[in-house]
Amino acid sequence: MVDLRKVDPSKANLDHEKSRLRHLNPKDPEEKKRLWKIETDPRVVKFVENICQTDDDLADFATLEKDYLVLAIEGKAGHVDEAEVGKLQGWVVVCPEEKKRLARLQKRGLADLAKQGLRVLEIGFARHPKAKSGQMASALRQVLAFLQTEHTKDGEVQLVITAYTDEANEASTRVLLASGFLQMGKVKYHVRNAGHDNFFIWQK
Ligand SMILES: CC(C)(COP(=O)(O)OP(=O)(O)OC[C@H]1O[C@@H](n2cnc3c(N)ncnc32)[C@H](O)[C@@H]1OP(=O)(O)O)[C@@H](O)C(=O)NCCC(=O)NCCS
Repeated sequence: MVDLRKVDPSKANLDHEKSRLRHLNPKDPEEKKRLWKIETDPRVVKFVENICQTDDDLADFATLEKDYLVLAIEGKAGHVDEAEVGKLQGWVVVCPEEKKRLARLQKRGLADLAKQGLRVLEIGFARHPKAKSGQMASALRQVLAFLQTEHTKDGEVQLVITAYTDEANEASTRVLLASGFLQMGKVKYHVRNAGHDNFFIWQK
């Protein structure tokens, strides 16, 4: 099975796309400052779970846990001002989908993903509030194509990526649709939640 801690994100970068991917570097003071700007952006606070509260959280966030991939989206020459090239524009996280949620999706008839031979990963993302638009969907397309290539080479399991957005989060829905996700319906992200989230799948 592809070990997400060992993949080389530089291989994800495609010439025709508008952003670049690399590992996060929260030890760099400017990158850390930008990460805090993202984590404290009201849109991110409203729509993203488990955001960092302390410097330790931030360091943990960038640490490559088993089955987790956390990537920095950096500005690319020709698409951002020169001063932004190489600088953090946002992040993308890929992590294992929860078994209980897969069971809920199946029960609601939305997706049959709780079966052998599939690796189901969930994707999340956030943009720096001052980052130029167009970079997030671009980053997602590159991450998805890259992970698909890695899993095809490995040949062990078929890759499926899920995503969830608050019904009010239109910007996030646009990013997902522009990256090739299909909107499948609505589901409670947590059983305790009052509202339902829009649910999306990406699969080749
Ligand atoms: C969601 C979020 C990442 C969107 O960032 P963004 O900069 O608007 O995203 P992008 O510009 O890269 O992507 C938007 C895509 O939708 C397309 N689009 C379609 N209709 C659009 C419209 N009416 N307005 C803007 N973009 C539109 C754009 O063309 C673009 O696709 P492209 O790259 O193929 O051209 C940002 O608002 C954010 O960080 N929000 C808070 C965190 C969050 O909600 N995360 C998701 C939780 S799952």
